[in-house]
Formats: sequence, structure tokens, C-alpha cells
Amino acid sequence: MLYLQNILFSVLATATLSLAQGPNSTSSSTSNSTSPSLKLEIEAIKAHFSNAGLSPQLLATFQPEALLSVFYEDVGQIQPGQNLTSDQVKPIPTLTLTPSNSSVSLSGSYTVMMVDAGIVGTDETKGQTGHWIANGCTVSNNTITLEHSLNITDYQGPFPAEGSGAHRYAILVYVQPDSFNPPSDFSTTGQSVGPIDLNLYLNSSGIGPLFANRRTT
Ligand SMILES: *[C@@H]1O[C@H](CO)[C@@H](O)[C@H](O)[C@H]1NC(C)=O
Ligand SMILES: *[C@@H]1O[C@H](CO)[C@@H](O)[C@H](O)[C@H]1NC(C)=O
Ligand SMILES: *[C@@H]1O[C@H](CO)[C@@H](O)[C@H](O)[C@H]1NC(C)=O
Ligand SMILES: *[C@@H]1O[C@H](CO)[C@@H](O)[C@H](O)[C@H]1NC(C)=O
Ligand SMILES: *[C@@H]1O[C@H](CO)[C@@H](O)[C@H](O)[C@H]1NC(C)=O
Ligand SMILES: *[C@@H]1O[C@H](CO)[C@@H](O)[C@H](O)[C@H]1NC(C)=O
Ligand SMILES: *[C@@H]1O[C@H](CO)[C@@H](O)[C@H](O)[C@H]1NC(C)=O
Repeated sequence: MLYLQNILFSVLATATLSLAQGPNSTSSSTSNSTSPSLKLEIEAIKAHFSNAGLSPQLLATFQPEALLSVFYEDVGQIQPGQNLTSDQVKPIPTLTLTPSNSSVSLSGSYTVMMVDAGIVGTDETKGQTGHWIANGCTVSNNTITLEHSLNITDYQGPFPAEGSGAHRYAILVYVQPDSFNPPSDFSTTGQSVGPIDLNLYLNSSGIGPLFANRRTT
């Protein structure tokens, strides 16, 4: 008799390493400060990424400018590190963003990615597996819309090899600067799920930490 067991793994949500701020942001008349509960949620995500060995191993710097919420039809809003089955994460999720404060604008163009960072202890300098890469996403009513996005790798739900342990999947949303220039092997649609070096991608496309550092001028 064949017995199929659902494979468990973790899905982690992260927020934007959003680097763009609206040029008009400082004229905001509403309160600038992050609400205490939002601040706690963002701190919790940061702690989670650290505990899960994703920061600094995968993300050298992790200063989310917005909270990213991930909704799967059959699960609802997931919690960071929640263990889910392949069936639960088969449909494409809905992503919403809550800016950490009113000076963070969501009017730009975004890159959405989901990478498999392997089990805890994986050497992240050897790269990850890309499960979802969409460039040119926009945000409407705080929800990421893919209507006009350039789908480099169409979303494909996690399906780690049986017995390989709980894989950590990170969903990331980055602001695409005007100078965004993806590596040539990730610039056309229809790429299948496969190896990606997240940090190389971030560095060479212009959305990585380098940009974050430069922005503080
Ligand atoms: C900034 O303000 C100017 C003048 O009010 C307006 O034309 C422009 O669209 C605003 N830009 C953004 C990004 O909100
Ligand atoms: C918001 O921040 C800006 C710049 O940091 C400051 O000039 C402004 O007074 C602040 N507004 C409020 C309501 O705190
Ligand atoms: C608003 O959030 C941004 C991004 O996290 C941060 O750099 C900035 O200091 C925050 N502003 C205030 C007034 O807290
Ligand atoms: C998820 O599964 C992993 C591996 O089985 C386990 O270490 C972890 O505690 C689980 N997490 C939750 C939130 O249940
Ligand atoms: C905006 O999002 C909220 C919360 O998700 C939802 O209740 C509302 O219907 C949405 N509004 C529009 C115009 O889509
Ligand atoms: C990108 O993918 C989304 C989600 O599958 C889809 O709705 C959208 O139509 C695609 N965009 C294009 C330009 O094909
Ligand atoms: C990305 O850039 C950072 C900062 O310059 C550097 O430390 C890191 O080694 C680079 N990573 C890759 C994979 O190129």
C-alpha cells in the first residue's frame, strides 16, 4: 500500500528592503512614527530571520521598511516560520505591504522573489533555488499586483525532496531603482525553477545592500 505523507517545511515572510522613499515624504502631515504593534511585528520578523539563520547568512543587512504579509488561499495569513505543506502553498499567494511609517512610499516598482534557502545550516554563499521572480510589480491598495509584472520565473510552490528536512523559503520584496538592470540570465520570462545566487543577483542588478548604503546621501 502506498502511503503519501505531506512534506513539512517552513515558509518565511520578509518585508521590503524597500529603499525608495517618495520625494514628497517629508511633507507628510500625518504622524511619522511607527505604531508600537507594527514595530513589534517588524522586530519579531527580524528576530525570526536571525533565529532561522537567514540573517546575516542570506541577508547581510535586514532592515525592513515595511511589513510583508503573505496570504495563501487555504491557510490565510501565514506566520513567519510556519510549517506548511506543499499542497497548502501550491496556489500563488497574495502579498500585502504595511509601511513601517508614513514616510515610506509604496508608489514604485518592485521585484518579488521567493527563494529556497535550504535547511538550517545551509551555506548560503553557494546560492539558493529561485521559485518566483517577478520584476516591475506595483502596489495598489497596499497589495502587490502582478497584472503587468515581468514574470521571470512564474511562481511555483515549494516542493523539497522528501526526507531532506524543513526547508526555509524566504519571500522578499525589493524596490527596483530606476537603474535596475537584472543579470542577463534573469532578464527574460519563462525561466524555470533553478539555482540563483540571491546576493549576486541583488548586487549586480542594483537593488542590493550597496544601493541601501548609497541612499543615505
Ligand atoms: C510630489 O509633489 C508634486 C507636487 O505636489 C507632485 O506633482 C508629484 O506627483 C508628487 N510626487 C509623488 C511621488 O508623490
Ligand atoms: C515627520 O518627519 C519630518 C522629517 O523627519 C519632520 O520634519 C516632521 O515634523 C515630522 N512630522 C511629524 C508629524 O512628526
Ligand atoms: C520610517 O521608516 C524608515 C524605514 O524603516 C526609517 O528609515 C525612518 O527612520 C522612519 N522614520 C521615522 C520618523 O521613524
Ligand atoms: C517546523 O518544523 C521544524 C522541523 O520539523 C521544527 O524544528 C519547527 O519547530 C517547526 N516550527 C513550528 C512553528 O512548528
Ligand atoms: C483595500 O484593501 C482592504 C483590506 O485588504 C479591503 O478591505 C478593501 O476592500 C480594498 N479596497 C479596494 C478598493 O480594493
Ligand atoms: C504574471 O503572473 C501573474 C500571476 O500568475 C499573472 O496574473 C500575470 O498576468 C502575469 N503577467 C504577465 C504580463 O503575463
Ligand atoms: C555583494 O556585495 C557585498 C557588499 O559589497 C559583498 O560583501 C558580497 O560579497 C557580494 N556578494 C556577492 C555574491 O557578490
